[in-house]
Amino acid sequence: MTKKIIAANWKDNGGREFIKDYFGYFKNNLNTEHEIIFFPPDLYINQINTYIDNNSFYLGGQKLNANVGDKSFTSGNSSEMFFDSGCNYILVGHSEVRISASYSASNELYYANDLQIIFCVGEDKNDKESNNTKHKLNKQLGELCNKANYSKIKPKKVIIAYEPVWAIGTGYTPELKDISFIHRFIKTYVSENHPFLKEKDIMVLYGGSVNSKNAKEILSTPHVDGVLIGGASLDAKEFTEICNLKI
Ligand code: PGA
Repeated sequence: MTKKIIAANWKDNGGREFIKDYFGYFKNNLNTEHEIIFFPPDLYINQINTYIDNNSFYLGGQKLNANVGDKSFTSGNSSEMFFDSGCNYILVGHSEVRISASYSASNELYYANDLQIIFCVGEDKNDKESNNTKHKLNKQLGELCNKANYSKIKPKKVIIAYEPVWAIGTGYTPELKDISFIHRFIKTYVSENHPFLKEKDIMVLYGGSVNSKNAKEILSTPHVDGVLIGGASLDAKEFTEICNLKI
């Protein structure tokens, strides 16, 4: 049995009643040895936190306010607030956030403090069709590896989610050999360029149209340390089934 990370990215879905029903099922049927992480909308983190016992699963924030520092800034949540509400993880650089032309991951990396970063990268359809995948990934990973982001913290490990934009919410996934190749490529790039991290400190998750039908083969693919699941994580039964897989 290999322990993997299985993460649920709920995006902007959920609500109080939905969460009650969801965790009613999930808690009664979970039988996993994997590390499970939920990224609910930030407003519902506190409600979901009440369902955690004995580290049965973990919580993460979707959006860190990258403008917090010593100054006041209206809107957003700081890393201390996420931590205080029970979060151990934070998503950084999801493609739905990167879409804003002014987006830069640097401040979020700088202000993550005690939260473990899950840094999302991935090429879009144009990059893929013009053979630009590696170039795009180098650029995104370059931001992660920039020494200037770490004047406050020295991370002991990093989790990267490889999410091809053309695979998110589309039902399409890359071939398993391509997932494995890109994950290997990411681990090599980061271990050669990051100021502190070695290959053993780097985990790479796959995200993009993972569901209960393809999760087992994706999780069994070399260099895949886990999955980040959007749509299929909203169905308690389907997500629990994935969490309970033996790999
Ligand atoms: P999906 O989303 O599983 O619905 O493709 C994944 C994500 O955006 O993290």
